[in-house]
Amino acid sequence: MKSSISAKALNAVETPLLALIVAQGSMPSLDATLERAVASGDYKGKKDETLLVYGGGKAQRILLVGVGKGADITRSAVRRAVAIAAKRARGLGTKSFALAVTPEARGGLGAAELAQVAIEGVAQGRWQFLELKKQPEDPKPDLESVELVVEGSDKDEAEAGRRIGDAIAAGYVYTRNLQMQPGNIATPSHLGDLARKLGQAHGFTVTVLDKAQIKKEGMGALLAVAQGSAEEPRFIVLEYEGGTGAPVVLIGKGVTFDSGGISIKPAANMEDMKFDKSGATAVLGTFEVIGRLKPKVNVVGLIPATENLPSGTAVKPGDVVKSHYGKTIEIINTDAEGRLILCDALSYARRFKPAAVIDAATLTGAVVIALGHHAIGMLGNDEALPAEVRDAGERAGERCWPLPLWDEYRDLLKSDVADVKNSGGRAAGTIAGAWFLREFVDGFPWVHLDIAGTAYLESEGASHAKGPTAIGVRMFTEFLLKRAGA
Ligand code: BES
Ligand code: MN
Ligand code: ZN
Repeated sequence: MKSSISAKALNAVETPLLALIVAQGSMPSLDATLERAVASGDYKGKKDETLLVYGGGKAQRILLVGVGKGADITRSAVRRAVAIAAKRARGLGTKSFALAVTPEARGGLGAAELAQVAIEGVAQGRWQFLELKKQPEDPKPDLESVELVVEGSDKDEAEAGRRIGDAIAAGYVYTRNLQMQPGNIATPSHLGDLARKLGQAHGFTVTVLDKAQIKKEGMGALLAVAQGSAEEPRFIVLEYEGGTGAPVVLIGKGVTFDSGGISIKPAANMEDMKFDKSGATAVLGTFEVIGRLKPKVNVVGLIPATENLPSGTAVKPGDVVKSHYGKTIEIINTDAEGRLILCDALSYARRFKPAAVIDAATLTGAVVIALGHHAIGMLGNDEALPAEVRDAGERAGERCWPLPLWDEYRDLLKSDVADVKNSGGRAAGTIAGAWFLREFVDGFPWVHLDIAGTAYLESEGASHAKGPTAIGVRMFTEFLLKRAGA
C-alpha cells in the first residue's frame, strides 16, 4: 500500500472518500450535509460510531469515525478509529482514500506518532486474504493508497512517522498473511525458505538447520516433537547487525500445525492450530520491519519449526528425551510441544550472550481462560525487562499483563524419572508452561509472552477482520526502536 502526506484544507481534498477521525463533542463544520446530520443530533462521534455522507464538496463521500473523548484518546484509540475507516473504505470498494484526524481527536499525540499509528490502523483495517480463493464472492479491490492530510506545520514530523508506519505496516501484513497460510503450505521448510528470502532482501545472515544438523546440534526436545511427521523440522537463525553490543534475541514458536500428537486434540476447531506458528511469523515480520528501518541495534531471531502429529514414529506419553541444554524431559503430554521446541531455542540462545531474550508463543489454552483475547500473558526472570516489554506493548496496542513465576509453582513440573516433566496438569497452566521454559534460561534476562489468546480472533470486530492479528510485530518493533534510541 502506498501512503502520502499532504497539507491541504479539508474541503480542497479531491478523493472518493475522506475519512475524518473526530472526537465526541467537537464536530468539524466542513460540508452542509454533514452539518445537517450533526445538527440533527443523530451523530455524536462516540467511540466506533460512524457516519457516511454524500456531500457537495470535492470529496465524493465523507466518513466520520468517532474516537471517543478526552483522556480516552490514546494511540490505540486513534489506530482503532483509523482501522474502522479503512475497513469501511475497503467495503465501499474505493481504491484510495484520504484521512485526517481533527485537532480535538488526536489526544496528546505528536505529529510523527499520529502518522505512524494512522498508517498502522490503515494496514489493520484494509487487510483481506483472497490469495487462496479462485472465485471470491463479492470481491473488493485492495485499498491501494492513503493520503494523510495534516496541518502544514506538522508535515515534516508526519513524514518521519510515515516512514516508520510504512515499515511496520509491511511487516504486519507479511505476518498476517503468513499466519493465514495453511499447514500444507506453510511447512517448517517453507518458513526456512522465507527466512532465507528475507536475508537476501535485507542483508541478514540466515542459517537454516535441517533435521540432520538439528540432530548434530543435540536438540533432542525439538526432534522429539518432529519425529511423528513426514515433514522435516527446521531451526532458523536470523542475524541482523545494526549496532554495537549484545543482541536482543527474539524467539518464535513455529509449530506449523499442532494436532496434539498422540495426546490428540478434539476435532472441533482443530484447523485453527495452523495459527500455532504465530510466534514464528511475528519474528519473521519483525525482521521485515528491521530490514526496512535498519535500527541501530543488534537482533537475532530464532525459530524452531516443526509439525506436531501422531503416527507410528511419534513421541509417546512417558517417553524421556534429552534436551539441547542437557536436562532430561519426561513427556507427559505430547500436546505440550511448544515448550519442548522453545527450550532448545532458549538453550541455543546462550551462544549470543544476549542483552535480552523475548519469546513469543501460542503456548497455552490456559492464557485464554486467564486473560481472554485482549492481553498477552507475560512472565519472566527479571524486573526491568518486563516493564520495558510492557511499555512497548502499550505503545503498540498489544497489551501484556504479568503473571507470577514464583518458586512455589516449580513443583508442578517435578518428574519421577527425569529432570523435569513437560506438563503439570490443568492448574496454573500458563505459569507451568513458563516455569518449564525457565528451567532452560541460563545467564540472560528473559521474558516469555504467551500469545495463544491474542494471535487470532475467532470472530470479526469493528476494527478487525476475523482471523490472524500479527500480534508481536508492532510490539517487537517498538521495543527495538526504543533500544536503538530512535
Ligand atoms: N498450541 C497449543 C495452545 C493453544 C491453545 C494455542 C489454544 C492457541 C489456542 C499448545 O501446544 C497446547 O496444546 N497446550 C496445551 C498444554 C497442556 C497439554 C499442558 C494446552 O494449553 O492445553
Ligand atoms: Mn499443543
Ligand atoms: Zn501448540
